[in-house]
Amino acid sequence: MQFEIDKHKINLNNALSHEELKFIDDREFVFNEDDFNFIKEFIYQITGIVLHPEKKVMVYARLSRRLRELNLHSFAEYCRLINEPQGSKEITHLINALTTNLTKFFRESHHFDHLKNIVFGDFKKLQPGRNRSFRIWSAGCSSGEEPYSIAMVAADSLNLNEVDCKILATDIDTQMLASAQTKAYKASPEIPKDYLQRFCDLGVGDTFNVKPQIKRLIHFKRLNLLEAWPMKGLFDVIFCRNVAIYFDKDTQINLFDRFADILAPNGWLYIGHSENLHHISERFKLLNKTIYQKIS
Ligand SMILES: C[S@@+](CC[C@H](N)C(=O)[O-])C[C@H]1O[C@@H](n2cnc3c(N)ncnc32)[C@H](O)[C@@H]1O
Repeated sequence: MQFEIDKHKINLNNALSHEELKFIDDREFVFNEDDFNFIKEFIYQITGIVLHPEKKVMVYARLSRRLRELNLHSFAEYCRLINEPQGSKEITHLINALTTNLTKFFRESHHFDHLKNIVFGDFKKLQPGRNRSFRIWSAGCSSGEEPYSIAMVAADSLNLNEVDCKILATDIDTQMLASAQTKAYKASPEIPKDYLQRFCDLGVGDTFNVKPQIKRLIHFKRLNLLEAWPMKGLFDVIFCRNVAIYFDKDTQINLFDRFADILAPNGWLYIGHSENLHHISERFKLLNKTIYQKIS
């Protein structure tokens, strides 16, 4: 893919501060404003992530590793590489390097209380009987703590012999997805003690693995939220927390409209603690802090 920077989209006021310039001057590789603006626009076009000027130091630090590994001598060379057809493989590394992946088990625990007590509670009341299905999407699942938390709540709340419960967990970052499927997690006080005992196998030191019966509920897949979604059916619940915060307003408007399209009638949407749908979408009603229900 040959990439053309749309100069109108570059904020020319993004001058480097004195401290940042000094930080960068002292460093191993030349990294000037043109390089930052190129990377900023490139990553925005592909992922929707907006890199604010204060991210320059982070961009330098994270991509310096790639420059070293590729034996490149400047960021200008790196920008040329990702813009050339033979550099297409590097784009995956670039994306992995620039995503923010902070997450934890049972983060924003009121979402999990709501899922257990209201969503699964209503589902059991309103749809008793066998052979029912329930679909949940963890969109922007990072290293897996979110979908595993969802799966533990599902295993605790539903009779999985009778309900076909499936969780789709997607992220753009291939490294995070790989780690979600293989890594042993560090013991975490956020996981309820009885969940730790029932749904996790203790490992070496203070590590644990999620039991296969929980893992089995989740299907991990790489998906860029900006691209086409291959999923066919509707979801009962979508978790998209602390992901859209990195997007601009237009990207958010489009994304939440698509979430409404792919949610079942009255389906539930959980978003991050510092996000809201005010002036973004009118297709949801706010039930409680950051808990939304589809209305149209
Ligand atoms: C801060 S983490 C949030 C993890 C989890 N949802 C939580 O709240 O704990 C944001 C995740 O969104 C992913 N992400 C960013 N842009 C994306 C895109 N365009 N498509 C899919 N995932 C994206 C990142 O790779 C990262 O893992």
